[in-house]
Formats: sequence, structure tokens, C-alpha cells
Amino acid sequence: MQNTHQPDLRSRHLRITEPSPWVRRFAPLIPPGDENGGINGDDKRGAVLDLAAGGGRHGRYLLGLGFSVVLVDRDIAPLADLAGEPRAEIIEADLETGTSVFAPGGPLAGRTFAGIVVVNYLHRPLVEEIVAALAPGGVLIYETFASGNELFQRPRNPDHLLRCGELLDLLGGRLQIVAYEHGLDETAEIPGVKQRICAVNDLDASDRDDGEPGPHPVAPD
Ligand SMILES: C[S@@+](CC[C@H](N)C(=O)[O-])C[C@H]1O[C@@H](n2cnc3c(N)ncnc32)[C@H](O)[C@@H]1O
Repeated sequence: MQNTHQPDLRSRHLRITEPSPWVRRFAPLIPPGDENGGINGDDKRGAVLDLAAGGGRHGRYLLGLGFSVVLVDRDIAPLADLAGEPRAEIIEADLETGTSVFAPGGPLAGRTFAGIVVVNYLHRPLVEEIVAALAPGGVLIYETFASGNELFQRPRNPDHLLRCGELLDLLGGRLQIVAYEHGLDETAEIPGVKQRICAVNDLDASDRDDGEPGPHPVAPD
């Protein structure tokens, strides 16, 4: 995990309420609800998972776009005001100890999502389960600190920093990579070296003769 248990960083991330521009840019690719969509079987847009949600800035943004959202964090106090929101499901869970949230018996067992958003959090053992939890056509938007960040600031622990090309290597050939970058972003809400990816689970869904997946819009905001 990232070192957000340290009070300064912890409060810093909670003070950021604007969604990341990367999430804003690619959220429109998340498909509306189908058989996987909606919480409690409603017919609203497909459910999106905000993993390690923190104050829920991305879950809140996606709620505003009409999605149902599942927000998971070990500290759900900052999400308390969402308790009465019918399209928000809040799950208090430690993502790194005990039974995985995705494993049988866990709160996300057997569930798939139209979108999964992970920002400023890395626990490598979860990545495979995150990919498996993407519904067909589902969109993964992942952004966190990466190698090179240790030259500037925390996190510096390699366990919390994506290696060069790591998400590309993990997801390439399994998901359609729509966008990827790795570099220093001094304008980010928490400046540093970031790796960002947007990938779609549609490599198996081609209707083209050459088997290529259809394109997605990538125009910047
Ligand atoms: C830097 S914050 C990012 C929050 C949010 N994704 C955002 O971009 O604003 C990291 C979050 O990961 C959560 N977290 C860290 N370790 C965790 C764990 N083992 N289980 C569940 N959540 C954890 C923290 O509680 C914190 O909310």
C-alpha cells in the first residue's frame, strides 16, 4: 500500500476533491449498464468499482455521471455522507490482509464491473483480480505513482511504485490498451512520477474480419 497511514499524506489526499483529469478523460468510455450494471438489479448505468476510494472523489464523480458505484476502502469514515445514496455501495475492507475482497466469501466475490478505477494505490497481488472483475467491455482506469518518483518525494518504496511499463506488460494482450503514459507530472493534484493506463476488456469482442477490436475515442478534454 502507499504510505497514506502517515498523517500528512493521509489528510492531503482527503483534501483533494476534484477527480483526476485522467479519470475524467476516460470515464466516458465506461459502458452503460447491462446485465452487470446497476446495484440491486436496477436499470441504471453499469456499476463502477472505486478501489481504495479514500474520500471517494472518483466514485462521487461517477455517481454524478449516472453510474452506480461501489466504493471500497479500509477507512470509510470519509464516505459516511454517501450512506443514504441508493446508487452508492460502501464496503469497508482491508485490501491487503486476510481473504481477498474478490475471493469466494469476500464482498466482491463473483461480481464484475463496467468500470474499475484505481488512483494512487498499489497492491500488486490485486491486479490480476482487478482484471478478472472487469465485465466484457469493461474499462480499467488506473493511475498511481511510478518509478522515478523516489527521486522527488514519497512514496519511495518500490512496492508502491509501478515499474516502467509495468501496467502495459500486465494488461497488454489481455485488454485493449487505449492510453498509457509514465512520466513526471508537476501539475498533478499530487505532483510526482505517475503511470496511467486506460484499457478496455474487448479484445474478444471484435466484429472485424481481422479480429482487431473497435477503436475508442481518445480526444483529450
Ligand atoms: C492516496 S489515497 C487515494 C484515495 C483515492 N483513490 C483518491 O485518488 O483520492 C489511498 C487510499 O488507499 C486506502 N488504503 C491503503 N491501504 C489500504 C488497504 N490495505 N486496504 C484498503 N484500503 C487501503 C487508504 O485508506 C486511502 O484511502
